[in-house]
Amino acid sequence: MSRGAPVKSVSQKLPQVVQDCIRHSGGAHVNHTAFWRFLSPPKSAHLGPQGKAAMHIEKEFGTFHEFKAAFTEAALNHDGSGWAWLVYRPDGRLVITTTSNEDNPLMKEFVDWRDHGRFILALDLWEHSYYSKYKNNRKKYIEAWWNVVNWNFVSKAHAIVTGIYGL
Ligand SMILES: [Fe+2]
Repeated sequence: MSRGAPVKSVSQKLPQVVQDCIRHSGGAHVNHTAFWRFLSPPKSAHLGPQGKAAMHIEKEFGTFHEFKAAFTEAALNHDGSGWAWLVYRPDGRLVITTTSNEDNPLMKEFVDWRDHGRFILALDLWEHSYYSKYKNNRKKYIEAWWNVVNWNFVSKAHAIVTGIYGL
């Protein structure tokens, strides 16, 4: 290999079908692990984020209520299977984004740069996550989900990612 030539990752050397499998199954594992951690029993759910996370959300979205409305709209407007995220980008911005299938904002090579970063909130938008209780009513599912978001964990995640990237 000549000096300065791009270095291929180990996964890029694998057959495409294997790469696709790693992307899908690896993403599904990471995403669902996160999804459960961002949930808490309804009675223990806080009303919203605390401390610096709350201030950062208000700085980017105006109010907590406006943030919830924007996140809900993004999740409702996402076509097909995927995920909705609150992402802390390397440039310090907190943004709402969605990804398709099992992709997530950590997958730099598969998401737009504006959607890349470390997520501090995750919502599963696959129909399998709500069909048994809400049929195809994604809106009802999202409304119910807000009641079980683990804001304590969101706030902790915010503290961790801002420590990595700086604020
Ligand atoms: Fe799922």
